[in-house]
Amino acid sequence: MTRPTYDFSGKNVFVFGGTSGINLGIAHGFARAGANLSVASRNPDKVAAAKDALSHTHPALGFALDVRDWDAVKAAVDAHVAERGSIDILISGAAGNFPAPATAISSKGFRTVTDIDTLGTWHVMRAAYDALTKPGASIINISAAQAWIAMPLQVHVCAAKAGVDMITRCLAMEWGRDGIRINSVAPGPIAGTEGMARLAPTPEAEARVNAGVPLGRMGTVDEIADACMFLSSDAARYISGAVIPVDGGSTAGRMLSGLS
Ligand code: COA
Ligand code: NAP
Repeated sequence: MTRPTYDFSGKNVFVFGGTSGINLGIAHGFARAGANLSVASRNPDKVAAAKDALSHTHPALGFALDVRDWDAVKAAVDAHVAERGSIDILISGAAGNFPAPATAISSKGFRTVTDIDTLGTWHVMRAAYDALTKPGASIINISAAQAWIAMPLQVHVCAAKAGVDMITRCLAMEWGRDGIRINSVAPGPIAGTEGMARLAPTPEAEARVNAGVPLGRMGTVDEIADACMFLSSDAARYISGAVIPVDGGSTAGRMLSGLS
């Protein structure tokens, strides 16, 4: 299958959580399409490695920070603006997940996940607002099926990602007047990622996951990157406030054994 090509030459893209897995794949997609990249996450080694890897066309900027820390997020946006002037495309993808029954999740454990995913997304968007290109900016928040499908062992993540999608919808309403489009992308199970290592840690669990996908396989980070580039392109100029599953049909309905 041929990947579509996009041209984001000269565009300034900031990916929060963009140092590994799906978000790094998204950052690579935009970098290959000619954009200037900034990335941020907690681990300085991961930030340095991503900064190097994303500097193939233009030098990338990297910031070691925790999205739960408002001052640190604001300082990174200010440093990005001092260097680049604006943000054309903003991706909020930092997240935390651990599978656990509700009775094994402490107050701190629940708050940790909602603070990273939901409060973190708010911090990223609020801190970026002044720097966003108006009109024309595209914001994509990385969601998950947990936002609208209840799952055992995932009450904290379900609550956190549902909050992320409501931030997408509310700010699409408020900031649409500025010509800013905001959407959520909800990846399905993506092969080779930290998320899948935590939720499907054995070959048996992986086989069960594959069986639950109508297209019969996990997705790839490139497939999520392609969706984000489409949503940030002029082809998607009238799409805003949407939550878009990119999941091989996983959330279209329920697979019934023996009927396919
Ligand atoms: N079961 C129950 N509670 C757990 C847990 C588990 N498996 N793992 C962590 N927690 C709880 C901790 O016990 C702690 O609460 P407590 O002090 O009351 O016990 C709380 O979560 C915070 O843990 P801590 O390790 O201090 O948080 P952190 O901020 O350093 O890390 C996590 C955040 C826990 C989400 C960590 O897994 C992480 O950094 N994840 C990022 C990568 C990731 O999850 N990728 C997949 C994205 S889909
Ligand atoms: P990942 O590699 O662990 O990506 C998470 C990224 O966020 C990392 O770069 C991590 O880097 C950063 N991060 C975590 N906590 C942070 C914090 N407090 N502050 C700043 N940065 C933080 O996991 P992934 O599986 O690729 O997941 C990426 C996104 O896709 C997440 O939003 C996840 O919910 C979503 N998703 C994944 C799947 C899947 O199949 N994997 C499915 C649906 C949705 P540091 O450790 O350096 O902070």
